[in-house]
Amino acid sequence: MNSARQPIGVFDSGIGGLTVVKAIMENLPSESIVYFGDTARVPYGTKSKMTIVKFSLENVEFLLRFGVKCIVIACNTSSSWALPTLRKYFKVPIIGVIRPGAAAAVRQTKNKRVGVIGTNATIKSGAYDAAIQQLDPAIKVFTQSCPLFVPLVEEGWLGGDISRHVAQRYLQPLLRQRIDTLILGCTHYPLLASTIRQVMGPGVALVDSARQTAHEVRGVLVGADTISDSRRKPRYRFFVTDEPTQFNRIGHQFLGQAIGTVERVNGY
Ligand code: DGL
Repeated sequence: MNSARQPIGVFDSGIGGLTVVKAIMENLPSESIVYFGDTARVPYGTKSKMTIVKFSLENVEFLLRFGVKCIVIACNTSSSWALPTLRKYFKVPIIGVIRPGAAAAVRQTKNKRVGVIGTNATIKSGAYDAAIQQLDPAIKVFTQSCPLFVPLVEEGWLGGDISRHVAQRYLQPLLRQRIDTLILGCTHYPLLASTIRQVMGPGVALVDSARQTAHEVRGVLVGADTISDSRRKPRYRFFVTDEPTQFNRIGHQFLGQAIGTVERVNGY
């Protein structure tokens, strides 16, 4: 098979990875995508490293059945804990969201004070801190987990008083640290960007890992000479491990367009 025609595999703990799919669709409109959302076992952000790595290995195995030419780990939590293990076990190129987000923040910051927000597991992993410091050891990194952001987004409460109060509570400590750049280190957070921007003010640039990751995917495909022909019409397939109802209901908010058919996979 011509590898340029093979799809890109994307996995996430659930629905949030559609923000990364959206960015890939915008950046690489001829690429077909197979998406795997592990909705039966979400959230990953509250789980241990061992569990996150185990689930991630299984997710890659699922995507490999489709002959994918590369795999994107849309989930920040999974990228934080599982990427090195996945790269050790599988030959297919695997792209996580941490390094692209970290690199964008390093390019962005002027005062070398960067904030990172994410799930408990992502923040505990120290993955963003390590990636930033590897690129520029002079940068000071301030981190904050925001566990209530994921349920707020899934409830569709993207603006309004409650979301703003929660954001204020989480983000005040970062404001005090005078950061000028903030990494939205979770699939769901781009949907809260305008609330987060209200709280942080215009002096803080928000870095969306999803968009940066799509650029990195392009780079990997160009490097491997497997980028799809621009005249090809792409095919998108979506798989989830639990009832697709919720995925269908709110997925379009993450994807920015209607999703179409969502297929259920059993055994997870
Ligand atoms: N996809 C996860 C992430 O980006 C958020 C949801 C979860 O906790 O599984 O970290």
